[in-house]
Amino acid sequence: DLMSDLLGFPKKERRLADVLGIDHVLIVSGDCDSQPRVLESMGQLLNKTLAVLLPDGENIIAAMGGTTMAVMAKELTPALAKQRDLLFVPARGGVGELVDIQANAICSEMAKQTGGRHRSLYVPEDISERTYQPLLQEPSIKSVLDLIGQANVVIHSIGEAMTMAQRRNMSAEIIGELQEKQAVAEAFGDFFDESGQVVYKIPRIGLQIPDLTEVPYVFAIAAGQNKAKAIRAYMHNAPQQTWLITDEGAANSLLKGA
Ligand code: G3H
Repeated sequence: DLMSDLLGFPKKERRLADVLGIDHVLIVSGDCDSQPRVLESMGQLLNKTLAVLLPDGENIIAAMGGTTMAVMAKELTPALAKQRDLLFVPARGGVGELVDIQANAICSEMAKQTGGRHRSLYVPEDISERTYQPLLQEPSIKSVLDLIGQANVVIHSIGEAMTMAQRRNMSAEIIGELQEKQAVAEAFGDFFDESGQVVYKIPRIGLQIPDLTEVPYVFAIAAGQNKAKAIRAYMHNAPQQTWLITDEGAANSLLKGA
């Protein structure tokens, strides 16, 4: 509209935010599916945006894992920690991912890049509820879970359902169930179909999507034409205040159907 034109908000970003029903979208040029550098530009944009938005003083930043998040971590800079005390905590326990892309590793890298601090969460995911319930009472685990609950910033990615299920070695039975229920997206251990319905949940420890409503700054980082469907599906569940950082590959594909 005229107002956003006057204020200089790029139209495409505004349109995509409206289509997805969230407050903020930032788009970098290119498509990370064919140009991996695009993810680095997204990381630089994330760093800049955090530097503008985050309040002075203490910030507790809960970060998720994944290959996208691993690139984001490398692009954060010490400028972010100017007048701020940054504490990075993994938003959830491990998910059977390779060590390098687990949330614990991402938090450690983010702390290293910015000069902030980090905490780790050591709770295996593939154990029964009966086994992990007492773990939650362990002081070293409980203190990290309390910090996660106090996070004022969450940074996460969105995955394609089948890619995530295979990468996390989910059983053939569950993969079959995901296919049958037409899962297209995964975030925070929840799998969604195209309409945004949760069709499967990995029972996990830590932050869940409903908790995001209380978090002032939520960043969803996902890009590439191949992720367009997953982004749209997850966004049915995203809190309003979400900032999506994406690329033209995903954005153009999302706007085409709109
Ligand atoms: O939950 C989403 C995944 O962590 C995204 O992983 O960035 O490797 O696609 P990815």
